[in-house]
Formats: sequence, C-alpha cells, structure tokens
Amino acid sequence: MPRSTRVRTVAFALTAFSTLTALVAFAAATAPATATTGPSKGNAAAAKAIFTSKCIVCHKADGSGGVKLTGNPTPNWKDPKTWADPKRTDDYLRDCITNGKTPSGMVAWGKTGQIKPPDIENLIAYIHTLKPAKAPAKAAAAAPAKTTTK
Ligand code: HEC
Repeated sequence: MPRSTRVRTVAFALTAFSTLTALVAFAAATAPATATTGPSKGNAAAAKAIFTSKCIVCHKADGSGGVKLTGNPTPNWKDPKTWADPKRTDDYLRDCITNGKTPSGMVAWGKTGQIKPPDIENLIAYIHTLKPAKAPAKAAAAAPAKTTTK
C-alpha cells in the first residue's frame, strides 16, 4: 500500500471511530429521559389534580372509562379483568402516557412535553388507587360460575 493511501486509511478509521464515540456519548446523554422502567414509585396523591384536570374527560373520575372516540374505548380500571391482563404493567401504562395511543385519541402527554416524567410516575400510582379493592385472583376464585364476557 502506498504511504499516502495508508495515511488516508488511518485518517478515515480515526474519523469513523470518533463519530462512533460521539454517537455513543449522545445515546448515553439522552438515555435518562426514557430510563424509568418497572413499578412506579410515584406519589398518587400528588397526581389527583392533574388527573382531574386532564384525564377524567375520557377516563372518568372513578377510572371506569368506556369513552370511545376513534378507536379503542378507554379501559375500565374498575374492572378486575382489566388488571388480570398480564400486559398491563407499569411499563405499559408509562408507555401509554408518554407516547399516547394516537389512533384511539389517547394523547402522547410525555412526548409532547405536556406532562413531565415525575408527574407521569405519580399518575401511574394514582391509576393504581382506582383498582377494585379485591385482588383479581381472589375475585375469580370467589365467583360461583365462570361467566366469560368478551
Ligand atoms: C381525549 C381522550 C383521552 C384523554 C384526555 C386521556 N386519555 Fe388516556 N386513553 C384514551 C384512550 C382512548 C385510551 C385507550 C387507548 C387504546 O387502548 O388504544 C387511553 C389509554 C390510556 C392508558 C392505557 C391504559 C390501559 O390500561 O390500557 C393510560 C395509562 C392512560 N390512558 C392514561 C391517561 C392519563 C394519565 C391521562 C391524563 C393525563 C389520560 N389518559 C387522558 C383517551 C384519553
């Protein structure tokens, strides 16, 4: 390889490497905004005001939902069956509040900057307080006959 080619190759490799390093640094710097996963450690009481002003229009004050706009209706958080769904984790709720469900009319509250991440955590905790008192498993066991309503 002629000397000039080798110099160019090395220069190219260095440019590629520093670009990669910059990308990794950028990814690391932007990561914390979306890093929260797992059960919410939010404060339910702190979210009541936001829930009342921004959410009850579609989710109802008691969380029973059933409001249909353009796609899926709002879920019924008063129904144990809703919570029996293994998909309905805090990660799922967090994703919905952050990124919305635009086809159904659920606003991307986090992505649009209307609600800040700590308030999203508080809202998740608040939604949990709307759950029916009985644990879903117990409610199912106590039911005399299985009635499947889909
Ligand atoms: C304009 C109506 C509307 C408003 C206002 C609204 N939502 Fe929703 N939301 C929806 C709809 C519709 C769905 C169902 C989306 C789907 O499943 O496709 C939904 C789904 C959700 C879900 C997923 C829940 C689940 O159990 O499946 C969460 C969490 C949620 N909303 C939280 C909130 C919070 C918190 C607020 C207030 C900051 C809010 N929503 C305001 C319409 C709304």
